[in-house]
Amino acid sequence: MSTELPSQKRDKVTTQTVVDMKRHGEKISMLTAYDFTMAGIIDGAGVDVILVGDSASNVMAGHETTVPMTMDQMIYHTQCVVRGVDRALVIADLPFMSYQVTTKEALKSAGRMMKEAGAHAVKMEGGDPISNTVKRIVEAGIPVMGHLGLTPQSIYQFGTYKVRAKEEQEADQLLKDAKILEEAGVFSIVLEKIPSSLAKRVTESVSVPTIGIGAGPHCDGQVLVLHDMLGLNKDFSPRFLRRYADLHSEMDNAVKEYIDDVKSGDFPNEEEQYK
Ligand code: KIV
Repeated sequence: MSTELPSQKRDKVTTQTVVDMKRHGEKISMLTAYDFTMAGIIDGAGVDVILVGDSASNVMAGHETTVPMTMDQMIYHTQCVVRGVDRALVIADLPFMSYQVTTKEALKSAGRMMKEAGAHAVKMEGGDPISNTVKRIVEAGIPVMGHLGLTPQSIYQFGTYKVRAKEEQEADQLLKDAKILEEAGVFSIVLEKIPSSLAKRVTESVSVPTIGIGAGPHCDGQVLVLHDMLGLNKDFSPRFLRRYADLHSEMDNAVKEYIDDVKSGDFPNEEEQYK
């Protein structure tokens, strides 16, 4: 009998692989990417899932929220990522207002993300209110990842980026929403910024994998925004973030050294020119 874990198979990661990973108790690693180069690096390093998050709105475009992101922008980022990936499952966020107005429009948006961008699945924020739309998209053959807790597309309703579902009523509703999403056919659910005890309850109550960000250790997998975990963004230090590098300092030093070398005439040297 093979003792190989689902993610150790050479094959491409599929939505079924991540569901199998939960069954085998193998944790799922997920990171965001928005471009070809970064996607190639993290895919080569072996990350299981790559999310083309609408956090591109903050990280790539410099907006304060994810609200301004458009379908065309998400399609562009997803196309770039897909071209850099061999193995990971690529999931793309459906941006704000591309799926909330009508189910027909949502289905069209999800279809564009698969056909034009080459995504393997889409992610949508919300629970009960979008469950019929999720069901319809899944019925059309498009895998959907849910997203509960802090859902940044609703920031103007929440008013803050603080931890969600600390109170019993909101926690109970979140648990219900997770079960409703499972029923609607999602293959996985992101849990963002909720108490770890609640994330544990949700993870134990649904058969599909939960992927946490600021949701503690009991989720079936973890996701971080790539630029945050690489330390590219100095000003964002929430409690849940672990920085694995200090690329901001590395880049700052490299650029300063380059400027000095240009100014001093040290660059280019004898070997760095054509004769
Ligand atoms: O847009 C994003 O990057 C996300 C993750 C934080 C889960 O939704």
